[in-house]
Amino acid sequence: MKYYCAAMLAGLVLISGSLYAQKFEGLALTPPMGWNSWNTFACNVDEALIREMTDAVVSSGMKDAGYTYIVIDDCWHGQRDSLGFIHPDPQRFPSGIKVLADYIHSKGLKFGIYSCAGDKTCGGRPGSRGHEYQDAISYAQWGVDYLKYDWCNNTGLNSVGAYTTMRDALYAAGRPIVFSLCEWGDTKPWEWAKDVGHLWRITGDITDCFDCEVNHGSWSSWGIIKTIELRKGIRQYAGPGHWNDPDMMEVGRGMTLNEDRAHFSMWAMLAAPLMAGNDLRNMKKEVTEVLTNKDVLAVDQDSLGVQGLKFNDNENGVETWVKPLKNGDWAICFLNKSEQKQKIDFDWAKKYIADDISKKTLNTNKTTYSIKDLWTKKNLGSTKKNLIAEIPSHDVLMVRLMK
Ligand code: GLA
Repeated sequence: MKYYCAAMLAGLVLISGSLYAQKFEGLALTPPMGWNSWNTFACNVDEALIREMTDAVVSSGMKDAGYTYIVIDDCWHGQRDSLGFIHPDPQRFPSGIKVLADYIHSKGLKFGIYSCAGDKTCGGRPGSRGHEYQDAISYAQWGVDYLKYDWCNNTGLNSVGAYTTMRDALYAAGRPIVFSLCEWGDTKPWEWAKDVGHLWRITGDITDCFDCEVNHGSWSSWGIIKTIELRKGIRQYAGPGHWNDPDMMEVGRGMTLNEDRAHFSMWAMLAAPLMAGNDLRNMKKEVTEVLTNKDVLAVDQDSLGVQGLKFNDNENGVETWVKPLKNGDWAICFLNKSEQKQKIDFDWAKKYIADDISKKTLNTNKTTYSIKDLWTKKNLGSTKKNLIAEIPSHDVLMVRLMK
């Protein structure tokens, strides 16, 4: 009888576990926006830096533009204690993580942290393998709102199992946390992660060049164009609460202003998460203007949540990308990948755009749209006339068609 009761209890726990284990719903209904330490600071993170960056998000106007999450990436970690709980590096974070999270919250922002499914992070710090539930409890206690979860040192791990375990641990700890999978697209997370996390990396690490590959031996990092081109046919997997993530932004980190503008525009067209990665304390005015362009942000954050698609491939190095928007408007982005400036002459009447994912169509013979240039803010007339323009090398013309 005793054995029977114990078996029933175990069964109930298992059933309730599988019924109630889920990701937190209602989060990241538009692509998450914020700042992450990795691209500029790598392992050089400490509490003073994170506070300064928090202040800069507010003073630069980025907070008002929608940037919300301040994320410490790798290397904040110290040791695990005798019970296995993780603690921050005592030299770099002497006040502890909760005090830092409280500071970020006091500015009306949210706080993100980083860990890894393997036993060590990519930077060699303690990973969460075998400590998932303990770490989730610590994150909840500290006031974490966002977890980026990496995939280094994963020998013997199954990605679906490892990420689902952390999802369940976060859910059990009870604090709603955006779960950002950083598995680089290795095992096609777009096919399985919709119910596991809120965004998933689709590529390896980005780097600050327009179109290059940097070979690190066993892996490469990718410039903007290569990152865009690496994965094809996965836009149907993105939507409110579950986004394809082409990695954090390189805006303001050394590319030209044209390239920054093209990069930012394309991330918006792709409904990508927008995590700035530059040093916000000494941003040039032009960089702030790119990151806070409200019209481009509105395309990224559009509540329909449809990832844009390529409409025209490569006419003289110019690609045409389109994105249907909630109110029947469309964003159109002409991306000049070539080394020269290029002229475009776009005859709307001859272009019938049909998106078989969202089932939206753009037929300018039926509906006339007015055209707004989202960078110069100029009115470019209507779709009754051809759109004729010249686009500088490595730049875009990004417009919104308005009914
Ligand atoms: C991996 C991730 C990066 C960053 C580093 C940290 O390379 O893809 O985004 O988090 O690890 O070590």
